[in-house]
Amino acid sequence: MKSEIIKVTFSNKVDNLSYPIFVGANLIYNCEKILKKFIHNKKIILIHDKVFYKKNEINESFVAFINLIEKFTSSVNLIGISGGDKTKNISELNHIIEKSLSFEIDRDSIVIAFGGGVIGDIAGFAASILLRGINYIQIPTTLLSQVDSSVGGKTGINSRKSKNLIGSFHQPLAVIIDINLLNTLPKREFLAGLVEVIKYGLIKDDKFFHYVEENYKQILKYDQSSLKEIIIKSCKIKSEIIKNDEKENGQRALLNLGHTFGHAIESFGKYDGTIIHGEAISIGICLAFKLSNKMGFCSLIETTRVINLLKNLKLPTSFLDLSISITTSKMLEKFKYDKKNKNNQLTFILNERIGKSFIKNNMDVNVLTKFLDEEI
Ligand SMILES: NC(=O)c1ccc[n+]([C@@H]2O[C@H](COP(=O)([O-])OP(=O)(O)OC[C@H]3O[C@@H](n4cnc5c(N)ncnc54)[C@H](O)[C@@H]3O)[C@@H](O)[C@H]2O)c1
Repeated sequence: MKSEIIKVTFSNKVDNLSYPIFVGANLIYNCEKILKKFIHNKKIILIHDKVFYKKNEINESFVAFINLIEKFTSSVNLIGISGGDKTKNISELNHIIEKSLSFEIDRDSIVIAFGGGVIGDIAGFAASILLRGINYIQIPTTLLSQVDSSVGGKTGINSRKSKNLIGSFHQPLAVIIDINLLNTLPKREFLAGLVEVIKYGLIKDDKFFHYVEENYKQILKYDQSSLKEIIIKSCKIKSEIIKNDEKENGQRALLNLGHTFGHAIESFGKYDGTIIHGEAISIGICLAFKLSNKMGFCSLIETTRVINLLKNLKLPTSFLDLSISITTSKMLEKFKYDKKNKNNQLTFILNERIGKSFIKNNMDVNVLTKFLDEEI
């Protein structure tokens, strides 16, 4: 399978920042040429998900990758951390920082994040503050991270108050997406990633939503060509949205469809795996469509179509699918920490139809309260 390159550019940057996303199969074994340009003779801090390097179970691709980069870098220093949102906290960040410093790094050293969104987010954040900022490369290993978190430079950790409240914008030097890394990904995690794929169609591209509707059975078989199709399309849509809004002052917020509800729900799960990010976003998307319908913005037919696709994928679609106890007042309390809020006013991403999201500022709390009372 031929690999493809998508270029991420930011139009408002004086320094014309841009970086490549490489997408292909078995890229991990064949990335010498790609990587040499960025990491030749440099000291590497390879922050990886421990899932690839357990005592009696070492992932072949990961070891091949280490052997490959050891040939043309000055040293490869490993930091293994656990996947799962529980890891995205300040003490884990501190551990990464202190361990990185113990390798006697300098400002030319490079962080490589090898793992899912959790590893990418925390490693990227560490890179953004180590020695006041060093470069990093993303090698995403979950579907979610390949279509979303590795692109766009949002890095960070969770606070006890809610999700992703501590962080920075720090763009990677490059993103390397090897579709074959998904072969070992558990189905539950794969489905969670598919939610973010569906999200892109809902925000901006009804034809893409239709493609997933038509091909989801093929996609669930990890079929390489449909996987490549959805990953490339997702990265392209995300790049297009963030191009003019790197720091989320406007349109980038659309990518948050389902996330105001989703982040709140996720934080009630205490990040212990009861509900994972993509699952919470699945419920969040359904709620955003139901709310759009309640407020007269979106038809019931479109809303039902969205919920049906997520149901067909056996994803959770409502509060009833949760084993966590949630109340309207607890949800409203969590919304206060949403980063889209301005002047104590809540902002939500709603939809006119499939393929057209919009930003709804100054959300009426009474409408929201009534809606949540009916849903919970
Ligand atoms: N920065 C952004 O723009 C952005 C966007 C969306 C989501 N996120 C964040 O991403 C995180 C979720 O990412 P995620 O779903 O990748 O979570 P994750 O990194 O926790 O990975 C999910 C699980 O899959 C395992 N895993 C990873 N790769 C594997 C592989 N190839 N084979 C087998 N197991 C593997 C991990 O150990 C973990 O248990 C959340 O914290 C979310 O907030 C960030």
